[in-house]
Amino acid sequence: MDKYAEQTRQEFEGWEEFYAKPVDEKLDFFKSDGRLFDIIYAQQFDREYLDYFCNLADMIRVMAKTKMGQKKLRHLLPHKRAMLYFVQPSTRTFLSFQNACYILGLSVSEIRGTTTSSEVKGESPEDTIRTFASYVNLIISRHPEAGFAEKMAWVLNQTERPVPVLNGGSGPDQHPTQALLDIYTLEREFSSVGGLDGKKIAMVGDLKRGRTVRSLSYLMKNYKDVTLYFVSPEIFKMKDDIKNFLDKHRIPFYETDDFEGIMPAVDAIYMTRIQNEYSEDPSSEAETHPQFHFKTKHLSMIHPHCVILHPLPRRYEIEVAVDNDPRAAYWRQERCGMWIRAALIAHIFKVGQEIFDEFS
Ligand code: CP
Repeated sequence: MDKYAEQTRQEFEGWEEFYAKPVDEKLDFFKSDGRLFDIIYAQQFDREYLDYFCNLADMIRVMAKTKMGQKKLRHLLPHKRAMLYFVQPSTRTFLSFQNACYILGLSVSEIRGTTTSSEVKGESPEDTIRTFASYVNLIISRHPEAGFAEKMAWVLNQTERPVPVLNGGSGPDQHPTQALLDIYTLEREFSSVGGLDGKKIAMVGDLKRGRTVRSLSYLMKNYKDVTLYFVSPEIFKMKDDIKNFLDKHRIPFYETDDFEGIMPAVDAIYMTRIQNEYSEDPSSEAETHPQFHFKTKHLSMIHPHCVILHPLPRRYEIEVAVDNDPRAAYWRQERCGMWIRAALIAHIFKVGQEIFDEFS
């Protein structure tokens, strides 16, 4: 990444062994006193947590509508400080986490690139993270490298000042809080048709490098009778690790390149863009794959309750005129991110119950 990155990369005894372990075997490491502490993997969320976070997010949302409610929320965590370490571009994840912090009263610091931190002088990423822990109570990271957030959590949890790490996107690997907000959005959008259980969901586009669809697929094990349709060009098919996970948990999935063919059958369509930032030569991926775009002509082909999602940013995967259809949920989806991230932060700092008590 930077001119010093290779020379300053630090070796930690035990890290490689830890990183290589199956995810299920290391989830306890990211807990403290039996509670969620670091959020690194979507697999950390079970159904109980998912329902709890959706309820808590709804309550925060209601409270934030009034001046009095906002004031109460802001008084929950004014003694906490968060660091937003976003060294890969982001609009939504950065802003929704930042505003989630403001809603709960946390102060926020930010670094948005390694060229403006002392990493440009040769400080290692690991020392950089330890420095954050000297000043703040929470680190939220977006990083181009898979495993970086996990390494941060692993390093900090062994220091005298462990600070929770929230993974706001780790390369093409995982985006667990995006999956959380996607679940929240789906549950809200399906509230009049029985919730997410029993639904058929199509994921469309670059499924190979799209971390959002990977993390969301993991969460499907928490829902009854969900069926997935992976719709992509051959070169962007979902990777085997996700397909093996779905097989293991007996979640039916189908792979197809016939997007229009599956449209009438599904309850939700989750669009994604081509993630060519992970290509050795991004300009070599000029093909836009128009047969995997959602256009206004498709609106008459989908179910009246079908929900159209996109983690955004979009390029051309969804025609802009589709935005006017009430089934286009992606603008509501990005706003859901702020509420559910506030719920997550409230839980981590053990003030969730105080919010629930406002409604009892
Ligand atoms: N969905 C998402 O992660 O968007 P940003 O890259 O803008 O944060």
